[in-house]
Amino acid sequence: MKAQFGIIGLATMGQNLALNIARHNFSVAGYNRSAERTQALMARVKDEPILPTFALSEFVSVLARPRAILLMVQAGRPVDEVLSELFPLLEPGDLLIDGGNSHFADTERRIREAESRGLLYLGVGISGGEAGALKGPALMAGGHVEGYARVEPIFKAIAAQGLDGPCTGYFGPGGSGHYVKMVHNGIEYAIMQIIAECYDLLKRGLGFTPPEIAAVFAEWNQGELESYLLGITVDILRTRDSETGGFLVEAIKDAAEQKGTGKWSTQAALDLGAPTPTIAEAVFARIVSALKEERLGAEKILPGPTPRLSLAPRELLEDLRKAYALALVTAYAQGFRQLQDASSEHGYGFSLAEVARVWTAGCIIRARMLGVMREAFQREPNLPLLVLAEPFRKLWHEGQGSLRNVVCLAHRAGIPVPAFSSTLNFLDSYRTGRLPANLIQAQRDYFGAHTYERLDRPGKFHTRWEEAPRC
Ligand code: 6PG
Repeated sequence: MKAQFGIIGLATMGQNLALNIARHNFSVAGYNRSAERTQALMARVKDEPILPTFALSEFVSVLARPRAILLMVQAGRPVDEVLSELFPLLEPGDLLIDGGNSHFADTERRIREAESRGLLYLGVGISGGEAGALKGPALMAGGHVEGYARVEPIFKAIAAQGLDGPCTGYFGPGGSGHYVKMVHNGIEYAIMQIIAECYDLLKRGLGFTPPEIAAVFAEWNQGELESYLLGITVDILRTRDSETGGFLVEAIKDAAEQKGTGKWSTQAALDLGAPTPTIAEAVFARIVSALKEERLGAEKILPGPTPRLSLAPRELLEDLRKAYALALVTAYAQGFRQLQDASSEHGYGFSLAEVARVWTAGCIIRARMLGVMREAFQREPNLPLLVLAEPFRKLWHEGQGSLRNVVCLAHRAGIPVPAFSSTLNFLDSYRTGRLPANLIQAQRDYFGAHTYERLDRPGKFHTRWEEAPRC
């Protein structure tokens, strides 16, 4: 019997997906460049139909035709290396699936290469980490639709169960699946930063201990604000350090790393002209955090106010919860807006309601409010920004004062809140009918004759500013 599905790359994600697929009664062949990982997978196999292989040619030969092969290798050059080894071994009609966090533009290039060889290709964003891969991830696919149709039964079987079915979706041609996953990660960065700012405000601003902060977050996580990231934060804040007996979070170096998907999301937003400042600030916040040594030096040279908030804890908690809700929705709103713009620009043609549905379970940014976001996009598929629609509009009405308080208090106390602050700036800009950009246009025209438009009549205008009459 030939294996129905093949996986190349058996690090933890690859192993867990192999087990998940095999546990749903699809036979899987596995291959990894170094045999140890293949053996590690086999050590975890009980009676699942998994076939280990130790050479690429052997792997290809044990797969049922047309073949379906999932690559779970590190994004970037390793994907191209595996593909160049694999291409000569495949036959027209075989399907390649890249399940890593590849850049969507790389996926578009690889699709063209696969097409020229008569192969089918899918770029699939897989979210949910190691646990998700084993128990039910969210899958965001793009590329050849015939390829998706072929593996859809497997994807449906292994995906997390979300609203109205499994969390797998086909989002269109080209790199659409990886684009959706990239923006998912951008939103992930923003949410993590917003939660980190809440933690800092409660810790340094009010002097709360990690379990006290956990109690606040656990309460928020009871209702409409429930989310995976907030839930794991509660666990993290309650975890003891076995070495010191203190709280583990306080023993961890405050320098965040990144593999680049948040940066790509921001770069792609800039390319599109899509406004995602909260996501961008979260990327920059990680960059600044990584300058640990420099910050330690600057702390001595650039003193600021005592980082204490001048507010009773009860009042701050109420404001912070509302500010958190508003910032959270704005992070999703910016991500969805970017997806909408990308869909038109790249011709993906996907529905934001379907993106929201696929994100309701399995993925890292899963949250109760995604179901409500889905409904908003079902009602209004071209909604330009989520906060314009109910019930999110209500969050603005009820929470804008709180967001202003939080940002003001934090700034006065010298506690950085880049995500909160940029959220407020973004929303204030977005709801301002007349911004000062008229002056910027005048400046551009003054020094560069770039022309400007007028409010009172159409056309492009230029003024010889140096000669113009002045008061
Ligand atoms: C997921 C995660 C996953 C991973 C990112 C984080 O959806 O399962 O987003 O893809 O955690 O690679 O990457 P950073 O290293 O950039 O934080």
